[in-house]
Amino acid sequence: MSATTREQRALEAKVSDVFRSFASAGYRNRAFLSELWREEHLDYLLKGMTRLPASFTVLDSSRPWLCYWIVHSMALLGRQLDPALQADTIEFLKHCKDPLGGYGGGPGQIAHLATTYAAVGTLVSIGGAQALSSIDREKILEFLLRMKDPSSGGFRLHDGGEMDVRGCYTAISVAYLLNILVPPLLEKLGEYVASCQTYEGGIGGEPGAEAHGGYTYCGLAALIMADQVDSLDLPGLLNWAAFRQGKVEGGFQGRTNKLVDGCYSFWQGGVFPLLQQVVTKLISQQTSGSSIMHEEIEDDSDTEIGVRKARNQQHRPFHNPTALQGYILLCCQVLNGGLIDKPGKSKDYYHTCYCLSGLSTAQHCLSTNPEDHPPSGHVFGPYSNLLDSTHPLLNFHMKRYMEAVDYFVSKA
Ligand code: FPP
Ligand code: ZN
Repeated sequence: MSATTREQRALEAKVSDVFRSFASAGYRNRAFLSELWREEHLDYLLKGMTRLPASFTVLDSSRPWLCYWIVHSMALLGRQLDPALQADTIEFLKHCKDPLGGYGGGPGQIAHLATTYAAVGTLVSIGGAQALSSIDREKILEFLLRMKDPSSGGFRLHDGGEMDVRGCYTAISVAYLLNILVPPLLEKLGEYVASCQTYEGGIGGEPGAEAHGGYTYCGLAALIMADQVDSLDLPGLLNWAAFRQGKVEGGFQGRTNKLVDGCYSFWQGGVFPLLQQVVTKLISQQTSGSSIMHEEIEDDSDTEIGVRKARNQQHRPFHNPTALQGYILLCCQVLNGGLIDKPGKSKDYYHTCYCLSGLSTAQHCLSTNPEDHPPSGHVFGPYSNLLDSTHPLLNFHMKRYMEAVDYFVSKA
Protein backbone atom coordinates (compact mmCIF):
# COMPACT_ATOMS: atom_id res chain seq x y z
CA MET A 1 0.00 0.00 0.00
CA SER A 2 1.40 3.44 -0.92
CA ALA A 3 1.94 6.16 1.68
CA THR A 4 -0.90 8.28 0.25
CA THR A 5 -3.33 5.33 0.34
CA ARG A 6 -2.35 4.67 3.97
CA GLU A 7 -3.00 8.34 4.84
CA GLN A 8 -6.32 8.24 3.01
CA ARG A 9 -7.44 5.10 4.87
CA ALA A 10 -6.40 6.61 8.21
CA LEU A 11 -8.40 9.76 7.51
CA GLU A 12 -11.43 7.76 6.37
CA ALA A 13 -11.26 5.79 9.64
CA LYS A 14 -11.05 9.01 11.69
CA VAL A 15 -13.97 10.64 9.86
CA SER A 16 -16.04 7.43 10.08
CA ASP A 17 -15.53 7.48 13.87
CA VAL A 18 -16.87 11.04 13.97
CA PHE A 19 -19.91 10.07 11.87
CA ARG A 20 -20.52 6.91 13.94
CA SER A 21 -20.46 8.78 17.25
CA PHE A 22 -22.87 11.31 15.75
CA ALA A 23 -25.24 8.57 14.54
CA SER A 24 -25.20 6.72 17.85
CA ALA A 25 -25.55 9.84 20.05
CA GLY A 26 -28.79 10.62 21.83
CA TYR A 27 -31.22 13.15 20.40
CA ARG A 28 -29.84 16.13 22.37
CA ASN A 29 -26.21 15.38 21.58
CA ARG A 30 -27.00 14.83 17.91
CA ALA A 31 -28.77 18.17 17.79
CA PHE A 32 -25.75 19.83 19.43
CA LEU A 33 -23.18 18.15 17.17
CA SER A 34 -24.98 19.02 13.93
CA GLU A 35 -25.53 22.61 14.99
CA LEU A 36 -23.50 25.47 13.52
CA TRP A 37 -21.79 27.00 16.57
CA ARG A 38 -22.52 30.56 15.44
CA GLU A 39 -21.67 32.55 18.56
CA GLU A 40 -18.35 30.74 19.05
CA HIS A 41 -17.38 31.35 15.41
CA LEU A 42 -18.38 35.01 15.71
CA ASP A 43 -16.27 35.44 18.87
CA TYR A 44 -13.25 33.93 17.13
CA LEU A 45 -13.79 36.11 14.05
CA LEU A 46 -14.21 39.32 16.01
CA LYS A 47 -10.98 38.71 17.93
CA GLY A 48 -9.13 38.69 14.59
CA MET A 49 -10.38 42.22 13.82
CA THR A 50 -9.05 43.64 17.08
CA ARG A 51 -5.84 41.95 18.21
CA LEU A 52 -3.75 39.25 16.54
CA PRO A 53 -0.86 37.30 18.06
CA ALA A 54 2.71 38.02 16.87
CA SER A 55 2.71 34.82 14.78
CA PHE A 56 0.47 36.64 12.30
CA THR A 57 3.40 38.77 11.08
CA VAL A 58 3.87 36.13 8.33
CA LEU A 59 0.60 37.43 6.89
CA ASP A 60 1.88 41.00 6.72
CA SER A 61 1.42 41.07 2.93
CA SER A 62 -2.07 39.54 3.18
CA ARG A 63 -3.77 42.01 5.51
CA PRO A 64 -6.73 42.77 3.16
CA TRP A 65 -7.21 38.98 2.98
CA LEU A 66 -7.52 38.80 6.77
CA CYS A 67 -10.16 41.55 6.56
CA TYR A 68 -12.02 39.69 3.80
CA TRP A 69 -11.90 36.26 5.48
CA ILE A 70 -13.25 37.74 8.72
CA VAL A 71 -15.77 40.32 7.47
CA HIS A 72 -17.17 37.99 4.79
CA SER A 73 -17.51 35.12 7.29
CA MET A 74 -19.30 37.41 9.73
CA ALA A 75 -21.63 38.60 6.95
CA LEU A 76 -22.56 34.99 6.10
CA LEU A 77 -23.33 34.52 9.79
CA GLY A 78 -25.63 37.56 9.56
CA ARG A 79 -23.43 39.91 11.61
CA GLN A 80 -21.85 43.28 10.75
CA LEU A 81 -18.81 44.87 12.38
CA ASP A 82 -19.81 47.63 14.78
CA PRO A 83 -19.68 51.14 13.22
CA ALA A 84 -16.31 52.06 14.80
CA LEU A 85 -14.62 48.89 13.47
CA GLN A 86 -16.24 49.44 10.08
CA ALA A 87 -14.78 52.94 9.92
CA ASP A 88 -11.34 51.66 11.04
CA THR A 89 -11.40 48.94 8.37
CA ILE A 90 -12.38 51.37 5.61
CA GLU A 91 -9.60 53.72 6.75
CA PHE A 92 -7.04 50.89 6.93
CA LEU A 93 -7.88 49.76 3.39
CA LYS A 94 -7.46 53.34 2.13
CA HIS A 95 -3.85 53.09 3.39
CA CYS A 96 -3.40 49.87 1.34
CA LYS A 97 -4.21 51.69 -1.92
CA ASP A 98 -1.41 51.93 -4.44
CA PRO A 99 -1.26 55.44 -5.99
CA LEU A 100 -1.08 53.64 -9.37
CA GLY A 101 -4.36 51.78 -8.70
CA GLY A 102 -5.34 48.61 -6.86
CA TYR A 103 -4.60 47.53 -3.30
CA GLY A 104 -1.39 46.14 -1.85
CA GLY A 105 -1.01 43.62 0.98
CA GLY A 106 -0.56 46.43 3.54
CA PRO A 107 0.21 50.16 3.74
CA GLY A 108 3.02 51.12 1.37
CA GLN A 109 3.05 47.78 -0.46
CA ILE A 110 2.66 47.55 -4.25
CA ALA A 111 -0.74 46.62 -5.69
CA HIS A 112 -1.49 42.92 -6.12
CA LEU A 113 -4.54 41.48 -7.88
CA ALA A 114 -5.37 39.04 -5.07
CA THR A 115 -5.30 41.69 -2.33
CA THR A 116 -7.27 44.03 -4.62
CA TYR A 117 -10.01 41.37 -4.81
CA ALA A 118 -9.85 40.92 -1.02
CA ALA A 119 -9.99 44.66 -0.28
CA VAL A 120 -12.91 45.22 -2.65
CA GLY A 121 -14.69 42.16 -1.20
CA THR A 122 -14.27 43.52 2.32
CA LEU A 123 -15.67 46.91 1.34
CA VAL A 124 -18.65 45.28 -0.41
CA SER A 125 -19.32 43.19 2.71
CA ILE A 126 -19.26 46.30 4.88
CA GLY A 127 -21.46 48.09 2.36
CA GLY A 128 -22.82 51.64 2.39
CA ALA A 129 -21.63 54.80 0.67
CA GLN A 130 -18.60 55.35 2.93
CA ALA A 131 -17.12 51.94 2.07
CA LEU A 132 -18.13 51.83 -1.61
CA SER A 133 -17.11 55.41 -2.41
CA SER A 134 -13.59 54.64 -1.15
CA ILE A 135 -13.08 52.32 -4.16
CA ASP A 136 -11.46 54.18 -7.05
CA ARG A 137 -12.86 52.46 -10.17
CA GLU A 138 -10.82 54.43 -12.69
CA LYS A 139 -7.53 53.71 -10.92
CA ILE A 140 -8.43 50.04 -10.50
CA LEU A 141 -9.17 49.80 -14.22
CA GLU A 142 -5.73 51.31 -14.98
CA PHE A 143 -4.16 48.66 -12.72
CA LEU A 144 -6.13 45.79 -14.30
CA LEU A 145 -5.20 46.91 -17.81
CA ARG A 146 -1.54 47.10 -16.76
CA MET A 147 -1.67 43.53 -15.39
CA LYS A 148 -3.20 42.15 -18.61
CA ASP A 149 -0.79 40.19 -20.79
CA PRO A 150 -2.29 40.63 -24.28
CA SER A 151 -0.08 37.98 -25.88
CA SER A 152 -1.34 35.09 -23.70
CA GLY A 153 -4.69 36.53 -22.55
CA GLY A 154 -3.73 36.03 -18.87
CA PHE A 155 -3.02 38.49 -16.04
CA ARG A 156 0.11 39.06 -13.96
CA LEU A 157 -0.62 39.29 -10.23
CA HIS A 158 1.52 42.40 -9.78
CA ASP A 159 4.01 44.51 -11.74
CA GLY A 160 6.69 42.11 -13.01
CA GLY A 161 4.99 39.25 -11.15
CA GLU A 162 3.85 35.74 -11.99
CA MET A 163 0.88 34.93 -14.20
CA ASP A 164 -1.68 32.31 -13.23
CA VAL A 165 -5.42 31.59 -13.20
CA ARG A 166 -5.88 33.46 -9.88
CA GLY A 167 -4.92 36.58 -11.82
CA CYS A 168 -7.71 35.98 -14.36
CA TYR A 169 -10.29 35.45 -11.62
CA THR A 170 -9.36 38.34 -9.37
CA ALA A 171 -9.05 40.81 -12.28
CA ILE A 172 -12.28 39.76 -13.98
CA SER A 173 -14.35 39.53 -10.80
CA VAL A 174 -13.34 42.99 -9.63
CA ALA A 175 -14.06 44.44 -13.09
CA TYR A 176 -17.39 42.59 -13.23
CA LEU A 177 -18.49 44.01 -9.89
CA LEU A 178 -17.30 47.55 -10.63
CA ASN A 179 -18.89 47.58 -14.07
CA ILE A 180 -15.55 48.16 -15.83
CA LEU A 181 -15.28 44.89 -17.75
CA VAL A 182 -13.93 46.53 -20.93
CA PRO A 183 -13.04 44.48 -24.08
CA PRO A 184 -9.20 44.62 -23.69
CA LEU A 185 -9.54 42.77 -20.36
CA LEU A 186 -11.46 39.98 -22.08
CA GLU A 187 -9.21 39.36 -25.06
CA LYS A 188 -7.93 35.77 -25.34
CA LEU A 189 -9.00 35.06 -21.75
CA GLY A 190 -10.73 31.82 -22.79
CA GLU A 191 -7.61 30.73 -24.66
CA TYR A 192 -5.41 31.32 -21.61
CA VAL A 193 -7.68 29.46 -19.14
CA ALA A 194 -8.23 26.61 -21.62
CA SER A 195 -4.44 26.27 -21.93
CA CYS A 196 -4.43 25.53 -18.16
CA GLN A 197 -7.12 22.80 -18.37
CA THR A 198 -5.39 19.45 -18.00
CA TYR A 199 -5.92 15.91 -19.34
CA GLU A 200 -7.78 15.17 -16.06
CA GLY A 201 -10.44 17.79 -16.81
CA GLY A 202 -9.72 20.22 -13.96
CA ILE A 203 -7.77 23.48 -14.31
CA GLY A 204 -4.20 24.00 -13.09
CA GLY A 205 -2.57 27.28 -12.01
CA GLU A 206 -0.67 27.71 -15.27
CA PRO A 207 -0.12 25.73 -18.48
CA GLY A 208 1.36 22.32 -17.62
CA ALA A 209 0.45 22.46 -13.91
CA GLU A 210 -1.66 19.85 -12.08
CA ALA A 211 -5.46 20.28 -11.99
CA HIS A 212 -6.44 21.86 -8.68
CA GLY A 213 -9.76 22.91 -7.10
CA GLY A 214 -8.70 26.49 -6.35
CA TYR A 215 -7.69 27.20 -9.92
CA THR A 216 -10.63 25.25 -11.36
CA TYR A 217 -13.09 27.47 -9.52
CA CYS A 218 -11.14 30.59 -10.54
CA GLY A 219 -10.90 29.59 -14.21
CA LEU A 220 -14.52 28.55 -14.58
CA ALA A 221 -15.91 31.58 -12.71
CA ALA A 222 -13.71 33.99 -14.70
CA LEU A 223 -14.87 32.54 -18.01
CA ILE A 224 -18.54 32.62 -17.00
CA MET A 225 -18.21 36.32 -16.14
CA ALA A 226 -16.36 36.89 -19.43
CA ASP A 227 -18.97 34.87 -21.36
CA GLN A 228 -16.21 32.62 -22.77
CA VAL A 229 -17.05 29.39 -20.99
CA ASP A 230 -17.32 27.51 -24.29
CA SER A 231 -13.49 27.60 -24.49
CA LEU A 232 -13.45 24.84 -21.87
CA ASP A 233 -14.08 21.10 -22.07
CA LEU A 234 -17.06 21.26 -19.70
CA PRO A 235 -17.94 17.54 -19.56
CA GLY A 236 -14.28 16.85 -18.69
CA LEU A 237 -14.33 19.53 -16.01
CA LEU A 238 -17.58 18.19 -14.49
CA ASN A 239 -16.25 14.64 -14.47
CA TRP A 240 -13.03 15.69 -12.71
CA ALA A 241 -14.83 17.86 -10.13
CA ALA A 242 -17.50 15.26 -9.33
CA PHE A 243 -14.84 12.65 -8.49
CA ARG A 244 -13.11 15.01 -6.04
CA GLN A 245 -15.90 14.55 -3.43
CA GLY A 246 -14.92 11.91 -0.88
CA LYS A 247 -17.27 8.91 -0.80
CA VAL A 248 -16.66 8.44 2.92
CA GLU A 249 -15.87 11.99 4.01
CA GLY A 250 -18.45 13.95 1.96
CA GLY A 251 -15.94 16.81 1.78
CA PHE A 252 -13.70 17.59 -1.19
CA GLN A 253 -10.04 17.05 -1.98
CA GLY A 254 -8.22 19.71 -4.02
CA ARG A 255 -6.29 17.31 -6.27
CA THR A 256 -6.38 13.66 -7.25
CA ASN A 257 -5.02 11.35 -4.57
CA LYS A 258 -4.84 14.08 -1.90
CA LEU A 259 -6.75 14.32 1.37
CA VAL A 260 -10.08 16.06 1.85
CA ASP A 261 -9.82 19.62 3.20
CA GLY A 262 -12.60 21.94 4.43
CA CYS A 263 -11.49 24.90 2.28
CA TYR A 264 -12.34 22.93 -0.89
CA SER A 265 -15.95 22.91 0.30
CA PHE A 266 -16.02 26.23 -1.47
CA TRP A 267 -13.38 25.92 -4.21
CA GLN A 268 -14.67 22.54 -5.42
CA GLY A 269 -18.22 22.66 -4.01
CA GLY A 270 -18.61 26.10 -5.61
CA VAL A 271 -17.90 24.70 -9.08
CA PHE A 272 -21.24 22.82 -9.18
CA PRO A 273 -23.66 25.75 -8.92
CA LEU A 274 -21.60 27.40 -11.67
CA LEU A 275 -21.88 24.35 -13.92
CA GLN A 276 -25.58 24.19 -13.10
CA GLN A 277 -25.88 27.80 -14.26
CA VAL A 278 -24.06 26.99 -17.51
CA VAL A 279 -26.26 23.95 -18.18
CA THR A 280 -29.44 25.91 -17.44
CA LYS A 281 -28.35 28.54 -19.95
CA LEU A 282 -27.50 25.92 -22.57
CA ILE A 283 -30.86 24.19 -22.12
CA SER A 284 -32.76 27.44 -22.46
CA GLN A 285 -30.76 28.34 -25.60
CA GLN A 286 -31.50 24.95 -27.10
CA THR A 287 -35.24 24.94 -26.43
CA SER A 288 -36.05 25.63 -30.07
CA GLY A 289 -33.31 23.47 -31.63
CA SER A 290 -32.69 19.72 -31.80
CA SER A 291 -31.51 19.53 -28.21
CA ILE A 292 -31.52 17.30 -25.14
CA MET A 293 -34.53 19.34 -24.06
CA HIS A 294 -36.28 18.45 -27.31
CA GLU A 295 -35.57 14.75 -26.91
CA GLU A 296 -36.92 14.97 -23.37
CA ILE A 297 -40.11 16.53 -24.65
CA GLU A 298 -40.56 13.97 -27.42
CA ASP A 299 -40.18 11.13 -24.90
CA ASP A 300 -43.39 12.25 -23.24
CA SER A 301 -46.81 12.31 -24.82
CA ASP A 302 -47.61 15.39 -22.77
CA THR A 303 -45.26 18.26 -23.73
CA GLU A 304 -45.91 20.09 -20.46
CA ILE A 305 -44.68 17.10 -18.45
CA GLY A 306 -41.56 16.89 -20.65
CA VAL A 307 -40.72 20.54 -20.06
CA ARG A 308 -41.17 20.13 -16.33
CA LYS A 309 -39.01 17.00 -16.35
CA ALA A 310 -36.17 18.79 -18.13
CA ARG A 311 -36.44 21.72 -15.70
CA ASN A 312 -36.33 19.40 -12.70
CA GLN A 313 -33.22 17.73 -14.05
CA GLN A 314 -31.59 21.13 -14.38
CA HIS A 315 -31.96 21.57 -10.62
CA ARG A 316 -30.62 18.17 -9.64
CA PRO A 317 -27.12 18.82 -8.29
CA PHE A 318 -24.08 17.12 -9.84
CA HIS A 319 -22.57 16.63 -6.36
CA ASN A 320 -23.93 15.75 -2.92
CA PRO A 321 -24.44 19.05 -1.05
CA THR A 322 -25.92 17.32 2.02
CA ALA A 323 -22.90 15.07 2.55
CA LEU A 324 -20.70 18.14 2.13
CA GLN A 325 -22.62 20.01 4.85
CA GLY A 326 -22.22 16.94 7.08
CA TYR A 327 -18.43 17.03 6.65
CA ILE A 328 -18.22 20.75 7.42
CA LEU A 329 -20.47 20.67 10.47
CA LEU A 330 -19.31 17.42 12.04
CA CYS A 331 -15.61 17.36 11.09
CA CYS A 332 -14.54 21.00 10.63
CA GLN A 333 -15.97 22.92 13.60
CA VAL A 334 -13.86 23.74 16.64
CA LEU A 335 -15.79 23.84 19.91
CA ASN A 336 -14.50 27.26 20.97
CA GLY A 337 -14.99 28.78 17.50
CA GLY A 338 -13.38 28.66 14.07
CA LEU A 339 -13.35 26.03 11.34
CA ILE A 340 -10.59 23.77 10.07
CA ASP A 341 -9.20 21.73 7.19
CA LYS A 342 -9.80 18.28 8.77
CA PRO A 343 -10.01 16.73 12.26
CA GLY A 344 -6.75 17.27 14.14
CA LYS A 345 -5.78 20.53 12.35
CA SER A 346 -5.78 24.00 13.91
CA LYS A 347 -8.26 26.68 13.08
CA ASP A 348 -7.42 29.72 10.97
CA TYR A 349 -9.33 32.53 9.30
CA TYR A 350 -8.83 31.21 5.76
CA HIS A 351 -10.39 27.83 6.58
CA THR A 352 -13.14 29.47 8.63
CA CYS A 353 -14.04 31.66 5.65
CA TYR A 354 -14.02 28.93 3.01
CA CYS A 355 -15.76 26.31 5.19
CA LEU A 356 -18.55 28.82 5.83
CA SER A 357 -18.63 29.91 2.16
CA GLY A 358 -18.85 26.22 1.15
CA LEU A 359 -21.57 25.59 3.72
CA SER A 360 -23.63 28.53 2.49
CA THR A 361 -23.19 27.47 -1.15
CA ALA A 362 -24.19 23.87 -0.35
CA GLN A 363 -27.29 25.04 1.53
CA HIS A 364 -28.44 27.45 -1.17
CA CYS A 365 -27.36 25.61 -4.33
CA LEU A 366 -30.80 24.18 -4.93
CA SER A 367 -32.65 27.50 -4.66
CA THR A 368 -33.27 29.06 -8.05
CA ASN A 369 -33.83 32.55 -6.67
CA PRO A 370 -31.24 34.15 -4.34
CA GLU A 371 -34.09 35.69 -2.35
CA ASP A 372 -35.61 32.24 -1.68
CA HIS A 373 -34.78 30.24 1.39
CA PRO A 374 -33.97 26.60 0.61
CA PRO A 375 -36.46 23.97 1.82
CA SER A 376 -35.54 22.46 5.20
CA GLY A 377 -34.49 19.16 3.56
CA HIS A 378 -31.56 21.00 2.00
CA VAL A 379 -30.14 22.22 5.30
CA PHE A 380 -28.16 19.63 7.28
CA GLY A 381 -28.88 19.88 11.03
CA PRO A 382 -31.31 22.43 12.49
CA TYR A 383 -32.76 24.98 10.07
CA SER A 384 -31.12 27.71 12.18
CA ASN A 385 -27.84 26.54 10.55
CA LEU A 386 -28.91 28.38 7.40
CA LEU A 387 -26.33 31.00 6.48
CA ASP A 388 -26.88 34.09 4.35
CA SER A 389 -26.29 33.35 0.68
CA THR A 390 -23.07 34.21 -1.12
CA HIS A 391 -22.73 35.20 -4.77
CA PRO A 392 -21.66 32.00 -6.57
CA LEU A 393 -19.23 33.83 -8.90
CA LEU A 394 -17.67 36.37 -6.55
CA ASN A 395 -18.15 34.86 -3.11
CA PHE A 396 -19.37 38.18 -1.75
CA HIS A 397 -22.46 38.31 0.51
CA MET A 398 -25.36 38.21 -1.97
CA LYS A 399 -27.46 41.11 -0.65
CA ARG A 400 -24.44 43.39 -0.15
CA TYR A 401 -23.26 42.43 -3.65
CA MET A 402 -26.60 43.51 -5.12
CA GLU A 403 -26.48 46.81 -3.22
CA ALA A 404 -22.92 47.37 -4.48
CA VAL A 405 -23.92 46.65 -8.09
CA ASP A 406 -26.74 49.22 -7.82
CA TYR A 407 -24.26 51.70 -6.42
CA PHE A 408 -21.66 51.19 -9.18
CA VAL A 409 -24.28 51.17 -11.97
CA SER A 410 -25.52 54.53 -10.70
CA LYS A 411 -21.90 55.86 -10.84
CA ALA A 412 -21.19 54.54 -14.36
C1 FPP B 1 -2.19 23.90 -2.86
O1 FPP B 1 -2.14 23.66 -1.61
C2 FPP B 1 -3.02 25.13 -3.02
C3 FPP B 1 -2.60 26.21 -3.61
C4 FPP B 1 -1.22 26.36 -4.12
C5 FPP B 1 -3.52 27.39 -3.80
C6 FPP B 1 -4.79 27.04 -4.52
C7 FPP B 1 -5.55 28.17 -5.06
C8 FPP B 1 -6.61 28.66 -4.49
C9 FPP B 1 -7.07 28.15 -3.18
C10 FPP B 1 -7.44 29.72 -5.17
C11 FPP B 1 -7.01 31.10 -4.80
C12 FPP B 1 -8.08 32.03 -5.10
C13 FPP B 1 -8.01 33.36 -5.10
C14 FPP B 1 -9.26 34.12 -5.26
C15 FPP B 1 -6.76 34.10 -4.97
P1 FPP B 1 -1.61 22.29 -0.99
O2 FPP B 1 -0.66 21.62 -1.90
O3 FPP B 1 -1.16 22.62 0.38
O4 FPP B 1 -2.97 21.53 -0.85
P2 FPP B 1 -3.50 20.14 -1.39
O5 FPP B 1 -2.65 19.11 -0.78
O6 FPP B 1 -4.89 20.10 -0.85
O7 FPP B 1 -3.44 20.18 -2.89
ZN1 ZN C 1 -7.29 24.05 3.01
